Parts: sequence; C-alpha cells; structure tokens
Amino acid sequence: MRTVTKDNITDVFMSYLAKDTEPRIREIMGALVRHLHDFARETNLTHDEWRAGIAFLEGCAAVETKDRHEFVLASDVLGMSSLVDMLHSSPEATSSSVLGPFHVSGAPPLAIGGDMKRHYGGPVLLAEGMIKDVDGKPIAGAELDIWQTAPNGLYASQDDEQDMYSFHGLMKVGADGRYAFTTVKPVEYTVPSDGPVGDILRACGRHPWRPSHLHYIVTAPGYRSLVTEIFPDDDPYLDQDTVFGVRNDLVMTYVERPAGEFPDGMEISGNVTDPFLHVEFDVTLVAET
Ligand code: BEZ
Ligand code: FE
Repeated sequence: MRTVTKDNITDVFMSYLAKDTEPRIREIMGALVRHLHDFARETNLTHDEWRAGIAFLEGCAAVETKDRHEFVLASDVLGMSSLVDMLHSSPEATSSSVLGPFHVSGAPPLAIGGDMKRHYGGPVLLAEGMIKDVDGKPIAGAELDIWQTAPNGLYASQDDEQDMYSFHGLMKVGADGRYAFTTVKPVEYTVPSDGPVGDILRACGRHPWRPSHLHYIVTAPGYRSLVTEIFPDDDPYLDQDTVFGVRNDLVMTYVERPAGEFPDGMEISGNVTDPFLHVEFDVTLVAET
C-alpha cells in the first residue's frame, strides 16, 4: 500500500496480516494496534513524547534482573495486572490479587501452627482459617504458600540482613482444611520506585505505597489455583493501593486479644507475653473445569 494516511494506517496494518494468521493473534494484534493508533491520534502524540515512551521501555529492560522485574511492576502500577486478574477471577472463589515480584519458589515447609515471626520484633499476628470449596466443605491436603515482608517493609530477596526464606512458608492443610500460623503484623511498604516506573509514578503525582498484606497462593488437586493477598481493614492505604490489588472480600479485621487467650498447640504457645492480633480468614477455591 503506497497511499498510507493517518486515517487508514490501522486498516493497512490489518491488511498486512497473512490470511491464515491464527485468529487469536489477529484479534489481539488488531485490537492492540487499533488502540495504539487511536491513542496517538487522540493525543496528537509528538516525536519527543513517543521517544520518551520508548526510552521508558529501554529503561525497564536496563534495570531488569532476576530479582528486579520492572516490566511486571509497570504492568502492576498501570492496573493491567489487576485488570487481567479480575477478567479471569471466578465470582464463586475468593478473589485473586497481584502476585507481585517477590514470590520465591522452594519456600520451606511450615507446619500447621508454625511460626514465621521468629526473633523479629513487632506484634504477633495469629492467622488462621479454612481452605474450602464453593459448598463450604474443607479441601483436605490443600497447600498454602505464604509470604510477606519483614517489619522493615522489605522482602527477603531485597534485604541482605534476612535469610533467603524469612517470612516465606509452605503449609499443607489436613483433612479439616484448616491452616494456622503466627507471624509479625505485616506493614505497609513502597514498591521499588528508584527506576523508570518510579519516574512514571512521580510524573503522575502518585505515591508508591501498598497497604500491608499477607500473600497467599492456594493450590489443591482438582481446583483452580488461587494467587491472592489479604489486607487489614484499618490500613491507611487500603483505598489507594498503588497496584490496585484490594478487593472487598480480601479485607479482614484484626482482633486484639490478651496474651492469656493465646491458644495451645501452636509453635509459640507459652511464649506469648503481650497482647496479640488474631484473624480468621477462609479461602474458597473453585473446581477446575
Ligand atoms: C507485592 O505485594 O509484593 C508487590 C506487588 C506488586 C508490585 C510490587 C510488589
Ligand atoms: Fe507484597
């Protein structure tokens, strides 16, 4: 095509696709290019602005390492990770929420009732609940992969002072579907903002904070795996999570209890001398189709 114009270029692009282009690729590439072209036309995008966009992508690539995932972070702060999550979340299951870049595979086993807090300071949080199906029946043998930051707001992979797997644990529930563990009360923290994604946040006058949360991945044979997070209802950033991860059903309430009410049978039973926080949070999985 020689007579390409600003008005027909999107159709010309589509005409360049081979007739036997796989239909889903045609649909996705067609929609992506249509929206990109409309974006340029709508904003009357200048050369300098488009070059700044390309420099942003190059900047993301330049800081990308095995522990630093700037493209994922870009997807997170633009709301794309959460949008794709919500498009495919089952309404019957507990909502999914962003995985984030700090999950590590190979977390050490954590017994039911086990402790992740260890020597770290801060209030004890006892988190427990049931992994259940949509009828409320326990899912025996489900696995719960848990992770969070230390009280300094850093994940183990970001912090040389922590062991590789501190605040990471993998728990297998029993026949009653129940999980229980102790940890330190999670804190709110900032996503990495010293790279190109931080520049975008600042340019938009946005902060880099996430509300405090626990991350869960829940898996069980025959059920759809769930990647999610749970958030306390009194967190100051609950309504302004910079990665859009909060959903109504993922908001929980900590109940403060006196030390004397700490239950028996936990790894740290007998050693709790201060009031502790308690939360009960059940997770629902849907069967795989
Ligand atoms: C996180 O919660 O670990 C996280 C999620 C998205 C971006 C950065 C961190
Ligand atoms: Fe997190």
